[in-house]
Amino acid sequence: MTAGEPAATERAIRENNALWDEWADLHAASRFYDLDGFRRGGIRLSAEEVAEIGDVAGRDLLHLQCHLGIDTLSWARLGARVTGADFSARAVAIARALADELGFPEARFVRSDLHDLPAVLAGDFDVVYTSRGVLGWLPDVRRWAEVVAHFLRPGGTFYVAEIHPVAQAFENEGVAPGELRLAYPYWEHTEPLTFAVHGSYADPGAQVAAEREHGWDHGLGEIVTALVDAGLRIESLREYPFVEWKLDFLVEGPDGRFRLPGGTPGELPLSFSLRATKPAT
Ligand SMILES: C[S@@+](CC[C@H](N)C(=O)[O-])C[C@H]1O[C@@H](n2cnc3c(N)ncnc32)[C@H](O)[C@@H]1O
Repeated sequence: MTAGEPAATERAIRENNALWDEWADLHAASRFYDLDGFRRGGIRLSAEEVAEIGDVAGRDLLHLQCHLGIDTLSWARLGARVTGADFSARAVAIARALADELGFPEARFVRSDLHDLPAVLAGDFDVVYTSRGVLGWLPDVRRWAEVVAHFLRPGGTFYVAEIHPVAQAFENEGVAPGELRLAYPYWEHTEPLTFAVHGSYADPGAQVAAEREHGWDHGLGEIVTALVDAGLRIESLREYPFVEWKLDFLVEGPDGRFRLPGGTPGELPLSFSLRATKPAT
């Protein structure tokens, strides 16, 4: 456990919360998230996660850090009874409005910091799901794993798809494709990494009032061990040579995924997916 001084950690999370409220409105209007396209139909999930999670029809699914609810409502379109949770009041309001507009009044969206969610949301779920840009906002991966385990029904499935901690260790701004400059911790660290905010990943040129964002890294071994210690059984851990968003040391492929440029000596894992179950008692 490496969470830093509590007041400093809480301040960092509060500042991140204000940033995400701003980003939620920005993202709802962005081409990156293309809400109008989602309104027209379709599933915004990767083929890998749909295959690895399997049939969700009629299952209760909790989406942690659900942002605008696009992934959550994709699972609803596949037949799941969905609950999304996020600490951004603006993101939750946008997700709620989208669910109503798309005809999913039974979809639930809950505003809560992830760490407080067990005190805010009752019940348990067949599937707990979280993906793409979630762990780096959390200071303590062991507390995260306890929240995951808390909400899983015995026999239930947990699934996370995320950027790989190895990819997080390299400088991702202002470097050339293939330039691997080790810059950040691989293992979990006490103090957050703090960066100046320039727009958003969805709209780098946008004006944003929030000035700073804070993040934490967690090694793959720490993530796996935290889930095992929380009582989950790991079923698969897959590492992929691509990630879904731009890092300056990668190049975009025709499939819209980002990889090391051809000719790079050697390979690195850039994202991973993990599937686990809570043993039936
Ligand atoms: C990159 S987004 C989630 C990824 C999602 N797949 C997407 O892009 O739509 C990260 C989300 O984590 C949420 N978040 C960050 N820190 C959180 C915390 N401590 N508790 C709950 N939600 C948090 C943010 O509000 C944001 O909606």
